[in-house]
Amino acid sequence: MRIIRDIRDMQSASRAAKAQGSTICFVPTMGALHEGHLSLVRYARTQGTLVVVSIFVNPLQFGPTEDFNQYPRTLEADCAKLEAEGVEIVFAPSPAQMYPEGAKTVVYVEGLSEKLDGLSRPGHFKGVSTVVAKLFNIVKPDYAIFGQKDAAQVAVLRRMVRDLNMDLELIVSPTVREADGLALSSRNVYLTPEQRCQALVLHRALLKVEAEAKSGETSAEKLRSIALSVLASEPAAKLDYLEIVNPDTLEPVEDTSKGALVAVAAAFGATRLIDNVLLPKL
Ligand code: PAF
Repeated sequence: MRIIRDIRDMQSASRAAKAQGSTICFVPTMGALHEGHLSLVRYARTQGTLVVVSIFVNPLQFGPTEDFNQYPRTLEADCAKLEAEGVEIVFAPSPAQMYPEGAKTVVYVEGLSEKLDGLSRPGHFKGVSTVVAKLFNIVKPDYAIFGQKDAAQVAVLRRMVRDLNMDLELIVSPTVREADGLALSSRNVYLTPEQRCQALVLHRALLKVEAEAKSGETSAEKLRSIALSVLASEPAAKLDYLEIVNPDTLEPVEDTSKGALVAVAAAFGATRLIDNVLLPKL
């Protein structure tokens, strides 16, 4: 496995691989890899002859009061995990390489970037779309894989790929959960054992909505109040949002029969967690 830190080296490795007929499958990450990331990597393995994983904690997507400095950085352990998965290339640039002085260009998906997490994390999605566009230009993937857990991120990036005619296919892989239902997240390491237990309310609320939807309830308002009442049963959960939206536009829906995304974000202590479930078309 090659660890590439230089942008030009990564670009020439991709160019050479493509010249030899390789299909590049790319998994962008911020490191602190867990089973959720590894499931994306395993999926990538089935899609591409060359699997590239980037590890870059992107300063542009963190707000001034967010956890950029504390965000877990575990490059050595991450590389060991990726090597065991048979990954060919890890791209791990420095912030100075990615954002040299004088960098002025951003990619901004208007409208979508202010919804869900974008509302409570101003500038977050502009940071995400900018770094992902740069990574796509550097890695030149045929396929790029993202986790369903970040559903709003998926909607923003899908739109970016479509609007800017990026020549790649975006693939979304299901959320991986602990046995008790907690969605895997690099931020779970911040939780105390008590908060970890409290955080299970997110999955409980989503399961309840899913069950009600399966038994025929299609009113988004009713489903939302069902979810809110489950969330209220855990007073430690500080709710940020619970929305039922169109998964592509992130606009609220009134009726879920054409399919909908139920997305939730809440803080447990200082740790903000997100989760979601997709309700299928009836
Ligand atoms: O989902 C993430 O880990 C990040 O938002 C991403 C896509 C790697 C961009 O920094």
